[in-house]
Amino acid sequence: MTQTHNLFSPIKVGSSELQNRIVLAPLTRTRALPGNVPSDLATEYYAQRAASPGTLLITEATYISPGSAGVPIPGDGIVPGIWSDEQLEAWKKVFKAVHDRGSKIYVQLWDIGRVAWYHKLQELGNYFPTGPSAIPMKGEESEHLKALTHWEIKGKVALYVNAAKNAIAAGADGVEIHSANGYLPDTFLRSASNQRTDEYGGSIENRARFSLEIVDAITEAIGADKTAIRLSPWSTFQDIEVNDTETPAQFTYLFEQLQKRADEGKQLAYVHVVEPRLFGPPEPWATNEPFRKIWKGNFIRAGGYDRETALEDADKSDNTLIAFGRDFIANPDLVQRLKNNEPLAKYDRTTFYVPGAKGYTDYPAYKM
Ligand SMILES: Cc1cc2nc3c(=O)[nH]c(=O)nc-3n(C[C@H](O)[C@H](O)[C@H](O)COP(=O)(O)O)c2cc1C
Repeated sequence: MTQTHNLFSPIKVGSSELQNRIVLAPLTRTRALPGNVPSDLATEYYAQRAASPGTLLITEATYISPGSAGVPIPGDGIVPGIWSDEQLEAWKKVFKAVHDRGSKIYVQLWDIGRVAWYHKLQELGNYFPTGPSAIPMKGEESEHLKALTHWEIKGKVALYVNAAKNAIAAGADGVEIHSANGYLPDTFLRSASNQRTDEYGGSIENRARFSLEIVDAITEAIGADKTAIRLSPWSTFQDIEVNDTETPAQFTYLFEQLQKRADEGKQLAYVHVVEPRLFGPPEPWATNEPFRKIWKGNFIRAGGYDRETALEDADKSDNTLIAFGRDFIANPDLVQRLKNNEPLAKYDRTTFYVPGAKGYTDYPAYKM
């Protein structure tokens, strides 16, 4: 069968040559070892999903430092980090396994921000949940939540850079700044969670400053062609407020700033957006299309895609890629199945965040 669809066509993303435009979305799976060290099972899990050469994988969200931890998921599940030698040695194995299969991998850089669980942070040291302001999610206690000081914000930027350098030194192809889903950078982008009166709050430009400072500092450290960012303009997850005025204006500015950097020769490898349909039927104004028009570079879209909608959206432009989350959990050979139009296995939600191989590395490849 001849494949004429963009989804199955090669594309260059930053410095990575890909053979298709199907991407493994970042997926927290809480199966790291004590010390926030990726396990050998993680190597197997990513290797399985790298099996179709030239596929882009994005890692699960990965703590940039102990103080960025505290995943708000019940249980003892552990998220990996990327600050210690032991973690880096384990990541090297993951990256090598992916490269051995001819695929590419970006590390998603995570600071949890205000939604971090205090008791989990305290297991790693005397750390506190932090945000642009000490405004908790509705119904949550604010006792331990601290507003970052000016110098702490600069310190956070430095930690993102350190993590990005570590990722590249260990062999990753790039990093994706997690500026989505209500975590630290996302909370800076919204006036409901950011009521600062310094240069990081109070205006559209100021609210975008933290995300853009991270972009610029990482670009400077590892190159724009290895740097990417994830945004979820319309996500209401974790008490993020969206509306028809501030949200479009805020993200229009942010996309314009990213495009400005591209025009000046610092084009990010990609910008990754979460589609609004993931949060219920979207309001007519909740759409990423205006941002797609501003940003001319590679654009990854994620959220509720199936084969048909992925083919359609990838065919709409020369540089759109489609990320799959839940379907890639249950279908390690998703790229082959989509190519061959084979049926997809259903994911088991109960094993998203439990330990061990079950629901992680034991989903079989398709058999006729
Ligand atoms: C188990 C699970 C873990 C996730 N972890 C992350 C994460 O670490 N970082 C992130 O940006 N999004 C995360 N997401 C969101 C996915 O990247 C993706 O946007 C979402 O699942 C929608 O895509 P889908 O409809 O193809 O599943 C997670 C989703 C699931 C189901």
